[in-house]
Amino acid sequence: MCGIVGYIGDREVSPILLNGLEKLEYRGYDSAGVAVYNNTGMHVVKSKGRLSVLSELLHGGTDLPGTVGIGHTRWATHGAPSDINSHPQVSDGGKFAVVHNGIIENYLYLKNHLIKRGIHFVSDTDTEVVAQMLEYYHQGDVLDTILKVASKVEGSYALGIICEEHPDTIYAVRKDSPLIIGKGESENFIASDIPAILMHTRDIYRMNDGEVAVLSKNEVEFYNHDKEKIEKVTERIEWDVDAAEKGGYEHFMMKEMFEQPEAIRKTISPRIHDGKIVLDDIALTVEKIKDIDKIFIVACGTAYHVGVVGKYAFEKILRLPVEVDVASEFRYRDPIITDKSLVIIISQSGETADTLAALREAKKHGAYVLSIVNVVGSTIANESDDVLYTWAGPEIAVASTKAYSTQLAMMYMIVLYMAEQMQAVSTEELNQYIADLESLPDKVAQCLEDKETIQYFASKHFNAQDMYFIGRNVDYAASLEASLKLKEISYIHSEAYTGGELKHGPISLIEDNTLVIAICTYQRLFDKMMSNVKEVKARGAVVLGILTEDKVGVQTEADHAFFVPKIADFMLPSLSIIPLQLFAYYVASQKGCDIDKPRNLAKSVTVE
Ligand code: G6P
Repeated sequence: MCGIVGYIGDREVSPILLNGLEKLEYRGYDSAGVAVYNNTGMHVVKSKGRLSVLSELLHGGTDLPGTVGIGHTRWATHGAPSDINSHPQVSDGGKFAVVHNGIIENYLYLKNHLIKRGIHFVSDTDTEVVAQMLEYYHQGDVLDTILKVASKVEGSYALGIICEEHPDTIYAVRKDSPLIIGKGESENFIASDIPAILMHTRDIYRMNDGEVAVLSKNEVEFYNHDKEKIEKVTERIEWDVDAAEKGGYEHFMMKEMFEQPEAIRKTISPRIHDGKIVLDDIALTVEKIKDIDKIFIVACGTAYHVGVVGKYAFEKILRLPVEVDVASEFRYRDPIITDKSLVIIISQSGETADTLAALREAKKHGAYVLSIVNVVGSTIANESDDVLYTWAGPEIAVASTKAYSTQLAMMYMIVLYMAEQMQAVSTEELNQYIADLESLPDKVAQCLEDKETIQYFASKHFNAQDMYFIGRNVDYAASLEASLKLKEISYIHSEAYTGGELKHGPISLIEDNTLVIAICTYQRLFDKMMSNVKEVKARGAVVLGILTEDKVGVQTEADHAFFVPKIADFMLPSLSIIPLQLFAYYVASQKGCDIDKPRNLAKSVTVE
């Protein structure tokens, strides 16, 4: 989604803005722009398309001198991608320039109000309304003006603002959209995300809703909505700069796939002590756990697929009813939530608009909300009763891999933690499950080792028009994610179906050489899956089977096979997904697709 970066200091600002925006490219965007101050006034340069287009316009930044400026990458919501709709948006009289992430929901009402008073609009954006209002209400004190405008706009926003009258100041304000301030030596920054400024500073302030930041070269001041000064402390970012870069891999996605063993280890190891799962960071009490009569798992995209695995795991181990929902449905379907409900929210970014709305809906009805989140201090993390962080580090590729794997690991931990509290399984079983969990990083690493087998298979099939993924129980859950990965990055149409449901429709689409990937790791239904494989083969399909390694040397119905280690049934998706992430990657690579930034997709979907 959109990205913001801003700088004030002694250095040339344009290259800093371009560089920062490049680090935010992973968020998905369709246009970019900058506003820079220099001794000839305020200058705005923006264009539709990739950042390289903007960079060319600016000759890498050398064409636009100045030491104060704001920049933006836009992902269109109000108004199509175009030069004019790109940010920064500037007020009619040219006094204010604004970059904005989020949506101003009452923009039409506000726009009409201003048009009636003679203000001339040039774009279709909701953001222009903010720029115009700033100038319209401005009476000399910019802080007063910002607070007035903030009190009138509804919706979500992270705003970076510069005003012609104060060329030595940048202003920032947020509501429901992330924004940070970076503190440097005689220079300060604003950004919507840390990687944008990490090469310049590791000391950041996180802004809260309703706060306004006023940045000069040497100082950052914060005010609340009553214009009272507030004190904030900086947070030291300990990530390695390399963690936000590709580190030798051709794509972030490949790098992140190979980070999975380590990311899972980081997520589980600190929470297993003496063979026991310890979730010190949550307040959910044993009494509360025993009182739960239903679990809801709510998320979007890949995170939703973690929820599907979670349903199988919770119901098998805890014998508690579980409903799993995509957040955009949950928030509007009037789910029957009570104060005995546990709602588990899963989100890598912690900012997904539908997931956040689902969380708020759950809380409104008295549910206990436990979230699994990757981004520390994100809105979902802040608003949950309890948050369990996955320690996946920054995930840059739009297609999620290591976030998925760590979310799964976290989900298994919650299941086993609750199983112990509820005495739902014997000590021997629990110990075996925990041992399996601890073996997960090595087993994932083992699956990654055999990447050439998958690369070869992808080279044979990258021209396919359609592909089908089938599985039963947790293998079905993994099929959903495998199918999503493939379509996200390779643009090949694919579907995931339960083995048993094939004959109720999709089998009519199978013809000679259709590729079917059959995930057959779930032992209890292995024979049933073999029957399904036979059914599609009888119609001409070519089948790749994902099998557990005890099937090596065993005659199966699949044409080709990839073997994964054995592990507790409900943890199998963590292994079966690995060859299929690799498969999606290699197919997309053979097709020459933009793997890290697939068309039309955004990493963090902060609008409904
Ligand atoms: C987008 C991303 C997906 C992600 C989904 C949910 O669609 O492209 O990779 O799974 O949002 O995001 P979240 O940050 O809430 O996990």
